[in-house]
This record gives sequence, C-alpha cells and structure tokens, in this order.
Amino acid sequence: MGSGVWQARGVQSSLAVVPGSFDPVTYGHQDVILRARALFGRVIVGVAANQGKAPLFGLEARLTLLHAALADEPNIEIQAVPGLLAEFCRQVGATAIVKGLRGGADLDHEQPMAVVNRELAGVETVFLPAAAAWGYVSSSIVKDVARNGGDVSKYVAPPVAEALRAALGGR
Ligand code: PNS
Repeated sequence: MGSGVWQARGVQSSLAVVPGSFDPVTYGHQDVILRARALFGRVIVGVAANQGKAPLFGLEARLTLLHAALADEPNIEIQAVPGLLAEFCRQVGATAIVKGLRGGADLDHEQPMAVVNRELAGVETVFLPAAAAWGYVSSSIVKDVARNGGDVSKYVAPPVAEALRAALGGR
C-alpha cells in the first residue's frame, strides 16, 4: 500500500470466508483477502469448485499456491470447501462471505449467489470494490497471458508465476 492510504480498522473480531476457485490466486485476490482481514479480524480462504469452470490447477495445487502466496500471514487460514459454500460458512461460524467486485459483470454474477447463500445459511455477503491496481486482473487473463508466453509477474506472486510457467510454458 502506498503511504497516505487509509487503513480500515476492524469493526469487531469476527470471521469472514473469502471463497473462490483461485485457479490460480492473483494479487487481486490477495488484496481482497488482506482487506477482509482488516475488517473482520480473521479470514478463512475457502477454495471451492466452480461448476462452470474446468480448473488448470488441481485442488491441492491451488491450496499450495495460496499458502505460498500468503506466506503465513497471521489470522488467515486456507481450507478446501468440499461442497456447499453456505454449509461451510455455517460449520465454521462465519459472520460473512467477502468477495471482490471488479465491475458490473462481477456483480451480475455474484448477486444471485449472495442471495442464495443467505437463504441457505443466513450468511451475508459483503462486496469490496477491487483496488484500482487490480481492477482488470483475473485468473483467466493471467492464464491466457502465461499460455501465450507473456510475463505474469505483475499480477501474481513469484511461486504462482513459477507454477504457471511449469504448467503452461512461457517466460
Ligand atoms: O472464483 P470464482 O470461480 O468466481 O468462485 C465461485 C465459487 C467457487 C465461490 C462458487 O462457485 C461456489 O460457491 N462454489 C461452491 C459450491 C456452492 O456453494 N454453490 C452454490 C453457490 S450459490
């Protein structure tokens, strides 16, 4: 963060779940995870299956890359979400789900899930606007850049860039 940027102070000490497929984790995801911790105190990063996407990295690899990228940040745990996200949130006692929004298309996609998760488990979803620096970064774009030999080091942590190189080639 640059100097002069206001840092959110947590309203209380509680637990947020930041879910996603994280295929792979980007600096945009990492920013949302750290901001969720600033607001709620504690975060579980929930790695789930997205039925609409066939992942490049298997579940274990996605968990390993999250651990490498977040490098033992305090009060952040990384767990697999085996089934319904709403059920997972109920089991861990989450106060809220936190998701980043890059724009209207993300909201169109996220809003129905937020409504259904609240109906299923009473869990609220809090949306954080993507930081200006990461508003255009997605796992899909990063994979496409890597697949075509581009440099992804601006968008993902070094271990993730290395894993993309190993999986897809490129620089
Ligand atoms: O990073 P993504 O792919 O946008 O994340 C979507 C994800 C994985 C959070 C969503 O597909 C999900 O919650 N999957 C778990 C299964 C589930 O609960 N489905 C019903 C959602 S209302």
